[in-house]
Amino acid sequence: MERRPFGPTKRKVPVIGQGTWYIDSGDRATAVAALRRGLDLGMTQIDTAEMYGDAEVVVAEAIAGRRDEVFLVSKVLPQNASRSGTLAACSRSLARLRTDRLDSYLLHWRGKHPLPDTIAAFEQLEQEGKILSWGVSNFDVPDLEEVREIAGDGRLACNQVLYHLQERAIEHAVLPWCDKHGVAVVAYSPFGHGDFPGPQTPGGRVLQEIAATHHATARQVGLRFLVRRPSLFAIPKASTPEHAVDNAGAGDLQLTEAELARIDAAFPLGPRPRELPTL
Ligand SMILES: NC(=O)c1ccc[n+]([C@@H]2O[C@H](COP(=O)([O-])OP(=O)(O)OC[C@H]3O[C@@H](n4cnc5c(N)ncnc54)[C@H](OP(=O)(O)O)[C@@H]3O)[C@@H](O)[C@H]2O)c1
Repeated sequence: MERRPFGPTKRKVPVIGQGTWYIDSGDRATAVAALRRGLDLGMTQIDTAEMYGDAEVVVAEAIAGRRDEVFLVSKVLPQNASRSGTLAACSRSLARLRTDRLDSYLLHWRGKHPLPDTIAAFEQLEQEGKILSWGVSNFDVPDLEEVREIAGDGRLACNQVLYHLQERAIEHAVLPWCDKHGVAVVAYSPFGHGDFPGPQTPGGRVLQEIAATHHATARQVGLRFLVRRPSLFAIPKASTPEHAVDNAGAGDLQLTEAELARIDAAFPLGPRPRELPTL
């Protein structure tokens, strides 16, 4: 499993990690087995959130006895992200996860609480050793600029964003901004939240053909495309050990420039979203 520095933290984190949204909705023992199989294969970034029902509880079971292997990420809901609310939400997540620290703690998306308050709470949690870094999710460039103005350079660890073959909008501005400022970019819903291109579609056929030449799977090829730049990570969610094994296979796959170009052409970036008119 290839690992790379996670933004300014310099921690080496696997390019493929594990999501947990809805992981509590099926058989719990199978979900725990999936996460543990994923850890065995090096997918040691586990992403969860206070929003995800009992997912943090499932994660706690999966990481019991192996906390030090894991790069554990959770998220505070925007409605809880006041200064005191963030501190309280973090305590609740730590209790549910049965751990004393998060490796990164993210604001799930921007809400009504002022960013300086949330960031002050993150900094306090970091000083107290309850989190080792902090980041954001679903932030666009103006929001990222604001974070940088408030916190300074080198503080924001990551921006976790929607990124998959059929939704590449971050490549226009968010990804270049994060590259420039040394911020990790974590691709969520890397399979389109269950909408991965099937083998009968034109794009799916391209993935299958490339996969065949590597004795790989189409999903592995898709994931590898998403982490082709040094700032990128992906966190597919798998509820079964078989799916976890498949996803982990992307961690060492190497695609040629020609193959990347074929995928790029099969799943075009699309136009830059129209700038909003200034009032
Ligand atoms: N920050 C945010 O706002 C945000 C938003 C959305 C998601 N996320 C994070 O990103 C994670 C991943 O995104 P996601 O859960 O939306 O969707 P996803 O990872 O794009 O897709 C998950 C779906 O793909 C299936 N799958 C996974 N591996 C497979 C394989 N090898 N073969 C066949 N099917 C496979 C899963 O099935 P099984 O469950 O049956 O394995 C599930 O139906 C989330 O779990 C969450 O941690 C963050």
